[in-house]
Amino acid sequence: MGEGRMRTSGGRMGCARLRDKLMSAEEAAALIPSGSTIGMSGFTGSGYPKSVPVALAARIEAEHAAGNPFRVRVWTGASTGPELDGALAKANGIEFRLPYNSDPIAREKINRGEMEYFDLHLSQVAPMAWQGFLGPLDVAVVEVTAIRPDGSLVPSSSVGNNKTWLDRASKVILEVNSWQSDALEGMHDIYYGTALPPHRVPIPLLRPDDRIGERYLRCDQDKVIAVVETHAPDRNLPFAAPDVVAEAIAGHLLTFFRHEVAKGRLPPSLLPIQSGVGNIANAVLGGLLDGPFDDMTAYTEVIQDGMLDLLSAGKLRMASATAFSLSPEAAERLNADMPRFAGKMILRPQEISNHPELIRRLGCIAMNGMIEADIYGNVNSTHIMGSRIQNGIGGSGDFARNGYVSIFMTHSTAKNGRISAIVPQASHVDHITQDVQVIVTEQGLADLRGLSPKQRAKAIIENCAHPDYRPALADYFRRAREHSYGQQSPSLLNEALSWHQRFVETGSMQS
Ligand code: COA
Repeated sequence: MGEGRMRTSGGRMGCARLRDKLMSAEEAAALIPSGSTIGMSGFTGSGYPKSVPVALAARIEAEHAAGNPFRVRVWTGASTGPELDGALAKANGIEFRLPYNSDPIAREKINRGEMEYFDLHLSQVAPMAWQGFLGPLDVAVVEVTAIRPDGSLVPSSSVGNNKTWLDRASKVILEVNSWQSDALEGMHDIYYGTALPPHRVPIPLLRPDDRIGERYLRCDQDKVIAVVETHAPDRNLPFAAPDVVAEAIAGHLLTFFRHEVAKGRLPPSLLPIQSGVGNIANAVLGGLLDGPFDDMTAYTEVIQDGMLDLLSAGKLRMASATAFSLSPEAAERLNADMPRFAGKMILRPQEISNHPELIRRLGCIAMNGMIEADIYGNVNSTHIMGSRIQNGIGGSGDFARNGYVSIFMTHSTAKNGRISAIVPQASHVDHITQDVQVIVTEQGLADLRGLSPKQRAKAIIENCAHPDYRPALADYFRRAREHSYGQQSPSLLNEALSWHQRFVETGSMQS
């Protein structure tokens, strides 16, 4: 038994009544019946339960081997880790899943039609659960850092939807993870003032560093049926070192920000930044490290490596988010140095980190990755070739529609140049053209603000498309202007999706 685990038994289980509910993960998993709807903690690989889902997956496999059907419905904050989505999907144990998934096994099951997946804006999950649209919640399985003597909970490395799951669920299982730094205590801000219409009131947050809630999660002790101790790390995937493409995108964005400051449309410290998931987003944060902007703030969904670097360097004054999304190296660094970072970071429920009212009020700079954009600036963030889910919309819609400036970025091609990320018509639309103000690829940046559809098309083709595809896009646009049924957003209906069809048939969009 390691030092951390002994500390868990000594200090992290402060509530005697809940300590009596201590049991193994297998015993806890045995309390979950088939057909249950389970609200799990977890957001972008952090703060998810790590032992009960594995034990549940083993039980499901045993039930299946005995010829007994056993599946559950799983709600989370966002993506989790292999011990949760991976293990349960592998056991063929998930009947229905919401709201965001990046696990490859679960993705494959969804794309084979073996798992139902409801992908929705992350800010809307908790309100939708309260409105009753999602049905009853049977069990909450929530990772926490510690249980306090009064039974309140020190949240873990993500908050996500935990407040709502603990409130809504009939029964609660807690995983107390001693791997999580005890210096997380005090970093959270859990707002209990949300309500449904007609009782909804303004959320009293005016700046990214405002604290409007409580430090701990409330929990009805009568609902707790099990407490399990763990000592296991978050998923923490490494980020790729920025390649020339990511660096070029970061460079274009920095030039854009400098220009906006010079024009007086952004203050010298910018506005609160939101940075999406993935390597490009992380590279952009790396670019800001060398940029001229100081005293920045972040009002975002996840704190990645790049944000820790900005905080360490003093370029970023503080970051508000709902979760960490770190490489293993950065997670170790943070855990070792948590007290230093503690005053500079606030973790909130995702209905607050992603709240449209707050994003609009604060004027966030929204920066998100995408799969593809069409020449009019409709953006597809989720579906490959219009039908295969990649991850989900996540918070991109929350921030894109409500941000001060909404930026989408991508490599101009995918699959070694066989796919153009700029296409005549997006094969699926998550963000309509009105919600997309700037598109950036390594080729350049298209500022679409104030442009009509035809002006947008010209800007996107000339600035963002890869040279291998630019002539074909220009040719399509020219012919559309000659032959389209209407001239507001010229389109050739029988050709608009032919690039995707060609890829499906030949493995390349190139003719
Ligand atoms: N057509 C087909 N496949 C494409 C593609 C395109 N236009 N663009 C990317 N892909 C594929 C890549 O080839 C890669 O496939 P692989 O896993 O088989 O290698 C995969 O999609 C991921 O692409 P990658 O280039 O690694 O991008 P990324 O890590 O920057 O992620 C998104 C890009 C769009 C998938 C990601 O940003 C996302 O899920 N966004 C939606 C949610 C979101 O924005 N969240 C943040 C809100 S706060």
